[in-house]
Amino acid sequence: MRKPRRLSNEQLAPWVWEVPRVGTSAGDRWPDADPETLHALSSDACPLPSVREAVRAVPEPIDWAKLFGNPNPVEIEVGTGKGLFLLHSATARPDTNFFGIEIVRKYQLYAATRYAIRNMPNVKTACADAKVVLRDFVPPGGVAAVHVYFPDPWWKKRHRKRRVFTPEFAADAARAIAPGGRLLIASDVEEYFGLMTAIVRAMPAFGERPDEAGRAAPQTDTGYATNFERKARAAGTPVWRAVYERTTGPVTVVPDPAGE
Ligand SMILES: C[S@@+](CC[C@H](N)C(=O)[O-])C[C@H]1O[C@@H](n2cnc3c(N)ncnc32)[C@H](O)[C@@H]1O
Repeated sequence: MRKPRRLSNEQLAPWVWEVPRVGTSAGDRWPDADPETLHALSSDACPLPSVREAVRAVPEPIDWAKLFGNPNPVEIEVGTGKGLFLLHSATARPDTNFFGIEIVRKYQLYAATRYAIRNMPNVKTACADAKVVLRDFVPPGGVAAVHVYFPDPWWKKRHRKRRVFTPEFAADAARAIAPGGRLLIASDVEEYFGLMTAIVRAMPAFGERPDEAGRAAPQTDTGYATNFERKARAAGTPVWRAVYERTTGPVTVVPDPAGE
């Protein structure tokens, strides 16, 4: 990874939302945290409070207007990597607020640095497990869109638990998105894309918008939405994408098509 310019925590603070946590020493902070989630991805995966502690520490869901200082619509990206999608989107759409969740600290800080050096007012980053943030901190109906681009496939069966896109995650995304809002997904892994679409299609809370999926694809050879999209293109790998509209249908947790 190219070394970003180093900014201090204080300089980055306006671009960072920290998961509220309780406790004072490393040993007592996250007694119930799922070790699979915490340590699966890398040694610098962001630690998370347990659900119980998080709820105890923060009874209030995120107040978007307070966080961004305005009442503009909010879109969430799950697994931002180095933050290219939010860089482009937040620049192109200054009247929308963007909230990126990335579980690996060095990527989150890399992305936050990109936004900080451009002094971008409409983007924030969180270092956390997006599944937990959507479940425990994002208020219902509060966001206009959730973007999930090139989520890690976790090929091995025993690593399935680490997948971001599960029936529970899709239900939490549905709860977060206001009716009329969008869920946008893309992957270069056909099997994983099939899994995601099978989950979402079984949910009455979403309706497919095939007309918009093409529009979400980059229109030029350099107009990549994300770094992984660029990699897929360079390798000649096909990319699958879909866009869903949040209906007024009920939120359901559908059976996992992956079988577990
Ligand atoms: C394959 S990369 C794709 C990055 C970016 N979306 C792109 O298309 O270039 C998947 C990213 O999701 C992050 N990630 C994996 N599990 C996550 C989770 N539970 N919550 C938040 N981010 C996660 C990984 O650390 C990684 O940066």
